[in-house]
Amino acid sequence: MTSTESSGADVFSDIADNYDRLNAILSLGRDKAWRRRAAAHLPAGHVLDLGAGTGAGNEAFGDRWVTAADPSLPMLIRNQARRRVASIGESLPFADGAFDGVFSAFVFRNLTSVAATLAELKRVLRPRGVAVIVDLSRPVGKVQRELHRAGSAVFVPLVGRLAGSPGEYKYLDESLDKLPPPVELYAGGPLTLERTWRMGPFGFVYGAVLRND
Ligand SMILES: C[S@@+](CC[C@H](N)C(=O)[O-])C[C@H]1O[C@@H](n2cnc3c(N)ncnc32)[C@H](O)[C@@H]1O
Repeated sequence: MTSTESSGADVFSDIADNYDRLNAILSLGRDKAWRRRAAAHLPAGHVLDLGAGTGAGNEAFGDRWVTAADPSLPMLIRNQARRRVASIGESLPFADGAFDGVFSAFVFRNLTSVAATLAELKRVLRPRGVAVIVDLSRPVGKVQRELHRAGSAVFVPLVGRLAGSPGEYKYLDESLDKLPPPVELYAGGPLTLERTWRMGPFGFVYGAVLRND
């Protein structure tokens, strides 16, 4: 592994010990199902798990060959994937066309640059390769969005305080407002947006399938 750090990675390095447990609490036990539903869109072959963290996605990849990439060593060290690489999405140390698919769950809000990362994903995907992205986004309807904003401002930092990491979970709540909805975020980018769907209470989790046409 080589060492590369970013501000998003620093937050996760600080909460790595508790990450899986808190993720299950914050998602009310649904996070595995959300990853599984998204991973079903991946092609067979070699998959890059970008921002793989502790390897929570591994069970959803079946018999695909997986490379786990993440800039946070405390997260990556817990990951059981056979190939682990310390790396940020904005600058990937992989050859052009190296992967059949890319999976990335709950990472995009933490990127320094979505545009640079999407350009890198296009480069490392083979032609017709598929990227599947799962992340949180505010609900679509105005009322649901405001209810969700009010609820998460209380619930997320509360869970963070109980876990002894209040600052980090305040960051997580604020990151929910950082990016536009997926259709805006990915439309017109280097990869073709094939479909999006919503999951979870008020639809605050999205899945997106993008293709390297
Ligand atoms: C919320 S965790 C998600 C981990 C895992 N994908 C999952 O589903 O549980 C976000 C991960 O993104 C990583 N990360 C932060 N900045 C990143 C970047 N610029 N490029 C790639 N990964 C990054 C963090 O280190 C962290 O492990």
